[in-house]
Order: sequence, then structure tokens, then C-alpha cells
Amino acid sequence: MLDLTSTAGFPSRRHVPPRNDAGFVSLPERREATVAAPHAAFLREMLAALDGRPRAISPKWFYDAAGSALFDDICGLPEYYPTRTETAILTRHAGEIAQLIGPHAEIVEFGAGSLAKVRLLLDALEQPRRFVPIDISGEHLQAAAQALRADYAGLQVTPVVADYTLPLQLPEALPGSGRRVGFFPGSTLGNFTPPEALAFLRRAAAVLRGGALLIGVDLVKDPAVLHAAYNDAQGVTAAFNRNLLVRANRELGSDFDLSRFAHSAFYNAPMQRIEMHLLSLTRQSVRLAGRHFRFDEGETLHTEHSHKFTHDRLRALARQAGFEPGPVWTDPRGWFAVHWLAAPA
Ligand code: AVI
Repeated sequence: MLDLTSTAGFPSRRHVPPRNDAGFVSLPERREATVAAPHAAFLREMLAALDGRPRAISPKWFYDAAGSALFDDICGLPEYYPTRTETAILTRHAGEIAQLIGPHAEIVEFGAGSLAKVRLLLDALEQPRRFVPIDISGEHLQAAAQALRADYAGLQVTPVVADYTLPLQLPEALPGSGRRVGFFPGSTLGNFTPPEALAFLRRAAAVLRGGALLIGVDLVKDPAVLHAAYNDAQGVTAAFNRNLLVRANRELGSDFDLSRFAHSAFYNAPMQRIEMHLLSLTRQSVRLAGRHFRFDEGETLHTEHSHKFTHDRLRALARQAGFEPGPVWTDPRGWFAVHWLAAPA
């Protein structure tokens, strides 16, 4: 089984500012030493990826400002059905979901990526008490909080700047508040490795005790539909994938030759996931941090998993994490699902 090696998890799809990790690796060559904002964690993980076999890096490194903008473009592509399908499911079933959530609820969004989606919930809820968006990017959070405060009088917005893939502490429930319900749309769960997905769900069950998690996941379907969604005709997904190398060249001073790496995305049926890779078109050498890394023709750097689920698989994973699976809403084609997972007290 080919697995991404990262254990750091997957952040919001928004721009993730560099973390000032200790242990910055010194960059001996002049070109690299002049890099304006070297990114220690990115460098460390890129070096580990290039040293590893198979070579693999976490998809979280896609999401600099350019990568986040490209992802927004992907969401609007004709071939990329998940965003509009999930939005349609939420629009259609918001009333029923709001009934389950109940009045005066507190909504906790993991990632705070899509205000459009949480608005569908908030609009349907009876006097929602508080919205707690959790995101690693404080800047993005503040903008999101501001917009919601302006539009929902009476809703307390309490942003939490944190990496939700790590152990979390949430603010105490407000007096008189109803159910605490987590919201994790977009099938971001699919970008985790299976152990990361289980760890995330376990932590979510702990912080949502007595409440529930509303989670959107992409479903197993005709591989041709999946293939098209990750190999769009305009090449936006290819640009998104290759942006990782653009970013590495800019931030780490590497010399990846973009013309020698191709976007490769395919459905791995036994693993029920799309895999994205950067495929070396020639035998070549790449320089990073004063070291040289050889790529053979056809060798790849694995950049993303995007797992697809069946209802049973998601429910089994949820049970393992301590949730009790409840209703599931899907679209007429059965391409995407929104699950209600109750978190026992
Ligand atoms: C963010 N995530 C759920 C997207 C997905 O479909 O796995 C990222 C993406 N990768 C390529 N296209 C979109």
C-alpha cells in the first residue's frame, strides 16, 4: 500500500501561513541563502519526500495563496462535481438537518473553508447561539468571522486559531446553548491517510461529546467520472498539482524544471482513492538545500490521496472513532454524501 508519509494532517484549504518551526536546515548555496522566507517545515518535509521511496509529500503544501486560488477555481469546474453536489444536498436538506440540530446550537467548523456552506446551515437553524470556526490561518478566520457577525445578529462568533488535526480544546459551552455540532464539509476527510482520518474522527468525537458531527464525503463511483474530475480539460488541476513545485522553487530555492514534470491523476480502485502524482518526464536531477536528487524517467512524487467512501465504510470508520452513525443525505446520482454522526456523551 502506498501511503503519504506525513503525519501532520491536512489543514484548511485556505492559505496556511508558514510556521516558525525550530530546527531550520541551513541552506549553504548562495541562491538558496537569498530565499526571502524559507519555510522550515516545508523544507524538512520536502527533503524527507525526496529521500523517501516511494516519494510522497502531504497535500497540505498545495495551499499557499496561489494554490488556494487554484483550488477555488477547481470547485467551479464543470468536471469537479463535489462542491456543487454537496451544496445542493445541504440546500435541499437544510430544514431537516436543522431539526436534528435543534435550537440555540453551537456550530464548530473544522477548517472554516467554505462560508457559503455554513451559511446554508445557519440560515436554517433556530436561533443559532454560537459559531466556532477553527482554522490555522488567523487572517482567514478574522475575515470569515467579520462577515458572519455582520450578517447574523445574535450569533456569537468565536474563532479558534488552531491546527484541527492536532489535539484540540474548545471554549466552554455558553449558558443556555443547545447542541454542539461539528461541521466538516468538502470531503477533506478523504485527503487524510486512513490512520489520520481515524485520529481526526476520534478527536472530533471527544470535543463534540453529547452533540454530533455533520460530515461531507465523496462517494465511490464510475472511475470515468472520478478521472475527469481530477484531469479537467482546462488543466486547472494540473496547475494546482504543479504549483507545489513552483512553491518549492520560490520558497525553498529548489530548481524543479516545470517542463519536465507532468500532472498525473488516476483512480486506484482497490484503495478506493484518486492518487495525484508529479511524474518525471525524463531522467533528471533536482537540487534542494545543496543536495542533488535523481529522478528516473517515469518516477513520481506522490502529492495527494483523495479517498472515496461507501456509506458502510464511512459508518464503520465513524463507529471505530466512537460515533453513532445516523441519517445520511445524498444526491439523486449518489455521488456525494452528508452524514450525521452522533457523539455520545
Ligand atoms: C480539498 N480536497 C477535498 C480536494 C479533493 O477533491 O480531494 C482537493 C483536490 N485535489 C484535486 N482536486 C481537488
